[in-house]
Amino acid sequence: MNEIRNTATNLMDKQLGRNPVSETYGQPVQDPSGATMKAVVFDGSRNVKIDEVPKPTITHPKDVIVKTTACTICSGSDSHMFSGEIPGRNKGSVLGHESCGIVVERGSEVKDLFVGERVVIAFDIACGSCSFCKRREFTGCDTTNDTKLMDVNYGAHHSAIFGYTKMLGDVPGCQAEYIRVPFGDVNCYKLPEDIPDIKGLYMSDVLCTSLHACELGSVQKGNTVAIWGMGPIGLFAGRWAQILGAKRVIGIEVIPDRIKIARNRFGFEVIDRNEVKDIPKKILELIPDGPDVAIDATGFRFTTTMLQKIERAVGLETDSADVIFECFQSVRKYGHVALIADYVGTSNQFPVGHIMMKHLTVRSGQCPCQNYFDRVVKAIRSGEIDPEWMITNKVKFDDLPDAYEKLFYKQDGYLKVFCQM
Ligand SMILES: NC(=O)c1ccc[n+]([C@@H]2O[C@H](COP(=O)([O-])OP(=O)(O)OC[C@H]3O[C@@H](n4cnc5c(N)ncnc54)[C@H](O)[C@@H]3O)[C@@H](O)[C@H]2O)c1
Ligand SMILES: [Zn+2]
Ligand SMILES: [Zn+2]
Repeated sequence: MNEIRNTATNLMDKQLGRNPVSETYGQPVQDPSGATMKAVVFDGSRNVKIDEVPKPTITHPKDVIVKTTACTICSGSDSHMFSGEIPGRNKGSVLGHESCGIVVERGSEVKDLFVGERVVIAFDIACGSCSFCKRREFTGCDTTNDTKLMDVNYGAHHSAIFGYTKMLGDVPGCQAEYIRVPFGDVNCYKLPEDIPDIKGLYMSDVLCTSLHACELGSVQKGNTVAIWGMGPIGLFAGRWAQILGAKRVIGIEVIPDRIKIARNRFGFEVIDRNEVKDIPKKILELIPDGPDVAIDATGFRFTTTMLQKIERAVGLETDSADVIFECFQSVRKYGHVALIADYVGTSNQFPVGHIMMKHLTVRSGQCPCQNYFDRVVKAIRSGEIDPEWMITNKVKFDDLPDAYEKLFYKQDGYLKVFCQM
């Protein structure tokens, strides 16, 4: 099924071609010297490997080239890629969207970045000057993702994202020795000297995205917040909720190691799905009106009911609505639901009536990291946020393929890795 979807996506992409922006923006080109570098590449469903690929070079005057000093694997989104379930990923394409490094080359129109500066790179790629970027809606950037495929599927296109699929711009990722960052001034954030790589790296996604989850859910002082999924995103969404003044954070998770971390390191109340079958019933026993905010930090792949398992298996839907149902069923009337988890396609049994009958506000979307960098740095400096709470494994670059497997199959306690180059 995945192979068929992938082939169909590739064919459609070829037929539809590119939006006109590609003429000015340009696709990546190889360093003229013919130099190569090591990178983690997609090698088909549930396979990644280290390979020699062309070293990138400046393609557009607003590009910078960053030499990677540290990178990591996104436990959620890179696992979706690894699964092979997201169509439009060619074998050999470079993965990764969480890294930091040193600027080694700058295009002629780059204003604020200079060779030798340390930067963290936002996972989303924005131009800074289209109408969406001007409103700071960076993940809606109209310039950086030039595929027409997304316009056909969604009626508009998302910004590009590093190391993702054709639908998200097909831009080479950062699990590599070097990365070309389009619109460097917009998408790189200068790391202050007192923020080492082991902390700053995680600003590229997790620390900003988890704060975005709380913003989408409008978490307020005194709120009760329930979060499905105690992966890196769910854990830090809970931590931000505490910082924003939530009086109770309740996590829902199935993996014992993660339940332990959520309870002991983050101090959340956690419902263990291995022990509790009916999650909304349990939540409503704990909070009779229901939590003020429900955050879904799981993902489109996770099912709990036989119906959704079957529908996904036979291709009747791409995305499970199981966790969404539990969020809607549990949250209080007039409550807020934040879908920070990745959803990509269509879902049957989506409980649309709950939104009307319980007067819910439901928000979702990819995080515009650029909006959160300053707040995250402040919280790291004050010690309120410590990304090291989630690092379970320090790995060498050559061990990244193995770490992909561990994260995908949720083995050996892997939660978040740190790879210093
Ligand atoms: N919106 C954004 O900008 C953005 C950015 C980064 C990641 N994401 C997405 O956020 C999600 C979380 O990311 P992550 O890195 O923490 O991923 P992860 O896969 O490590 O964590 C998801 C967790 O959910 C748990 N889970 C699965 N089914 C469950 C269920 N029915 N009830 C409770 N828990 C369940 C899993 O055991 C796992 O621990 C992913 O879907 C990821 O793709 C979104
Ligand atoms: Zn990520
Ligand atoms: Zn833009």
